[in-house]
Amino acid sequence: MTELARRISADYAGVDELLLVGVLRGCYIFLADLSRRLTIPRRIDFISLASYGQTATSTGAVRLIMDLRTDIAGKHVLIVEDIVDTGFTLDYLMSILVPRRPASLKTCALLRKPDRLRKDVKIDYLGFDIPDVWVVGYGLDYRDMYRALPCIAVVKAGGG
Ligand code: IMP
Repeated sequence: MTELARRISADYAGVDELLLVGVLRGCYIFLADLSRRLTIPRRIDFISLASYGQTATSTGAVRLIMDLRTDIAGKHVLIVEDIVDTGFTLDYLMSILVPRRPASLKTCALLRKPDRLRKDVKIDYLGFDIPDVWVVGYGLDYRDMYRALPCIAVVKAGGG
């Protein structure tokens, strides 16, 4: 986390302002911790997308639940995701944000499951790669539970 924040702060040192776009809901604790560690001027906005409903399997269909309040044209934007699984969410996000003409658009994710990736999405700032398991805690949920766990834990098959 500290290392990610240090790299982001260094890379954006010259820009007026960075807009952090948090992908709700899973990002909220990661974004809170990351944003407090940045040493550059930054603003925060949120976008909410859904791909899974209440199940732990990917349909590939992503829909926009709540859009940004900020006009991102000409702004430096960093998308902050909790976890990249198939990559459908990040791919969809890029497809709707690129046409809005930000000055730059990069991605940051705490976790990635490389074995599950179905879309070729670039993650500019990555915390950790993890195996193909379902994880909860630190903002991440299983059927909307366990988000407030202070650590990241693996949900075992049949459990929850
Ligand atoms: P993707 O579109 O398949 O990359 O999925 C991204 C979204 O799925 C994340 O933002 C999470 O909300 C959710 N997700 C994927 N894997 C996990 C997991 O292991 N635990 C909790 N949420 C997950």
